[in-house]
Amino acid sequence: MNFLMNDFIITPDLCNYKCDYCLYKEAPDWEKNNNSNRTKTVYDKEGDNKDFFIKTKGILEKYDSIFKTPILRICGGELFYIKDIMSFIEQIYGNYETVQIISNGHFLDDELLSRIKNLNNCILHISLDGHTLELNSRRLKNSAYQDRLINNIKNVIKMGIPLEIATCLTDANTKRYEEMVSYFYGLEGDVLLLPFPVRGEECKEFYPSSEDKEAFSRILSYFDNYKEILPPYKYLERLCSFFNDGRRREGCHIPKAIIQTFHNGDITACCMDWSVKLGNATKDLSSEIADSICNCKMYNLYSLTPPRLASCRTCFTVSEIINLYIDGQISVEDLQKMKLFAGKESLKLVESIKKI
Ligand SMILES: C[S@@+](CC[C@H](N)C(=O)[O-])C[C@H]1O[C@@H](n2cnc3c(N)ncnc32)[C@H](O)[C@@H]1O
Ligand code: SF4
Ligand code: SF4
Repeated sequence: MNFLMNDFIITPDLCNYKCDYCLYKEAPDWEKNNNSNRTKTVYDKEGDNKDFFIKTKGILEKYDSIFKTPILRICGGELFYIKDIMSFIEQIYGNYETVQIISNGHFLDDELLSRIKNLNNCILHISLDGHTLELNSRRLKNSAYQDRLINNIKNVIKMGIPLEIATCLTDANTKRYEEMVSYFYGLEGDVLLLPFPVRGEECKEFYPSSEDKEAFSRILSYFDNYKEILPPYKYLERLCSFFNDGRRREGCHIPKAIIQTFHNGDITACCMDWSVKLGNATKDLSSEIADSICNCKMYNLYSLTPPRLASCRTCFTVSEIINLYIDGQISVEDLQKMKLFAGKESLKLVESIKKI
């Protein structure tokens, strides 16, 4: 079994933001960032991350030697908070058909953006809950930061770097999502908006109300006005049903398509559920272990309809597009709308996963 994407996470505990709902606060403490041997951030004048990058590159190469994936998704905490992370990305991007960089957008100045643009196979995925501070208030409380962020995003669009904008739907923005859609439609760029619900028991206070969700569902009637920047209609329909039902009804194929890996070598069974550890690349990535990861029984459990696991019943993510394609709900043209999956190798792999 081959995976479509390696979802590679580096130092999930390092971030310059403090979003109210951030689940990465619960990231396991597998790498304690203690002061003596800490990954250096952009604010560290002294020191560098050269040794850290050599080690991290070695881990990534180990994954590549076993699960060669056409897509690499790379994410922090906040990736660009890591000092000189761009030099690391420049060393590894050529091994993939497509690289997706996930970021909160704060550090994306012109110099970084032109280096990203130069890679030519890179898609930016920026998290933003609203174009105004009010709508984005579960992520930011500071208007200077908000202005800086919107300015950075406008520069991404101006430079023609493909951009996904991931919006976590909460009590702050769900009801007024159309305002954000209309704003980005007006900017006329290579933008795809991807809304998804906030999740986690500990985030209940941020959940949108029934009234918020009902207002959001108007998206199904205004879809045609903005369809160039929205995900497929079926994605939004499934999202509205999820809101309506208060739970997921469908089985999930995402773990068969995306392998979740970490810079310390850990591999988990699902990118949204890190509780099931499958192995560690620094110790035991023999071909037998790799086979057992590829044929893990959990994948069948995840794909059962209705979902059997509590973690699945409350889960709806931007990768739902993969599920819709495998379930035969959207066309290949709809899938390609997400540039992330539009490469030749990637499309071939999705087809092979569809047949499993
Ligand atoms: C944890 S962040 C890491 C990357 C980067 N710092 C960012 O914010 O894009 C990755 C994604 O997880 C989302 N996220 C964090 N906590 C969440 C929650 N409780 N429910 C749903 N999504 C969440 C964020 O909105 C973001 O889109
Ligand atoms: S920017 Fe990303 S990692 Fe940082 S607190 Fe917000 S959601 Fe979490
Ligand atoms: S629904 Fe379940 S299997 Fe699918 S991404 Fe979410 S937690 Fe993972």
